[in-house]
Amino acid sequence: LESISVGLLGLGTVGSGVVKIIEDHQDKLIHLIGCPVKVKKILVQNTNKKRDVHVEPSQLTTNVHEVIEDPDIDVIIEVMGGIEQTREYLLEALNRKKHVVTANKDLMAVYGTELLKKATDNGCDLFYEASVAGGIPILRTLVDGLASDRITKMMGIVNGTTNFILTKMSKYGTPYEEVLKEAQRLGYAEADPTSDVEGLDAARKMAILARLGFSMEVDLEDVEVKGITDITQEDIDYSKRLGYTMKLIGIAHRSGDKIEVSVQPALLPDHHPLASVQDEYNAVYVYGEAVGETMFYGPGAGSLPTATAVVSDLVGVLKNMRLGVNGRSAVAPQYQKQLKAPEE
Ligand code: NDP
Ligand code: HSE
Repeated sequence: LESISVGLLGLGTVGSGVVKIIEDHQDKLIHLIGCPVKVKKILVQNTNKKRDVHVEPSQLTTNVHEVIEDPDIDVIIEVMGGIEQTREYLLEALNRKKHVVTANKDLMAVYGTELLKKATDNGCDLFYEASVAGGIPILRTLVDGLASDRITKMMGIVNGTTNFILTKMSKYGTPYEEVLKEAQRLGYAEADPTSDVEGLDAARKMAILARLGFSMEVDLEDVEVKGITDITQEDIDYSKRLGYTMKLIGIAHRSGDKIEVSVQPALLPDHHPLASVQDEYNAVYVYGEAVGETMFYGPGAGSLPTATAVVSDLVGVLKNMRLGVNGRSAVAPQYQKQLKAPEE
């Protein structure tokens, strides 16, 4: 192949990072794939907006068909967000045998099973590493690195925005609203930050982790959720005096064949490893029966860390294309879903 053409849906915080990494790391991509990678077309809402990266005006379009129907484009990278319309676009792309990389946990938590099946049926890859814990390669760790183990517990800080807010409130007493605005300015928060602060973003990520870690169908409705909107500065200061740190914690637990998944604020003793995870950083603890305790740490949000995961997925797709082994993104769950009843 002379080159590979990619189509981008979205050129915001993550999309700009993707363009930068593809440009700045082109040598490495050529080394891995054997040919240059080019971003051919980019879907945006407003073609006149000032951008953080240089792109030619001819690359931008507001017409999705120009991206997903372009016969030169082999891979669609979805970094625009949203659920229903985005699902339609990706189903259409997969029907046209385009491979897909997405950072969209909202979509994957709700329609992941359907989209993965569509990808497999069409011989396409659908990778979504960036959807959980930004720059931490946690999904491929569950799918590949720990493939042989039986995972019984996962616990972690999986939302950067709320961790950033709780850290700044605890360290400097910065008012909640002010820190939230800063998280939005830095590109950590979702377009509607309600999903961050009310725990829904973390719940979506925990549903995806539980699905992969426990090899079981897990729906978003199965996750018990409480966010940080009721936490006051007094709560944080008081717990600090007692030697505790307030964190928004996701927990997925399996006992026997039953699982439970939740997201809630929790007080951790200051010496707990998760208590030292600060700002927009995330950490995921995974317990496997054979491996024992493992822990993964890194930036959970932001342009370049998230884009690293996206472009690494792109490399995975392109390597598979070269080997002719696409369409194996989805492995059917091994177990039937069984939720632990609250009284158990
Ligand atoms: P932004 O809001 O910064 O960017 C969204 C981009 O998509 C913009 O370029 C926007 O166009 C375009 N867009 C949005 N809706 C449409 C539409 N209906 N039609 C055409 N273009 C559209 O979002 P982020 O980059 O922060 O996030 C993108 C995705 O990545 C989301 O799914 C998010 O959950 C996920 N993600 C984000 C992380 C982060 O740290 N920000 C981390 C991990 C995942 P225009 O520029 O013209 O407005
Ligand atoms: N809004 C998300 C967060 C982005 O703050 O963690 C990364 O998924």
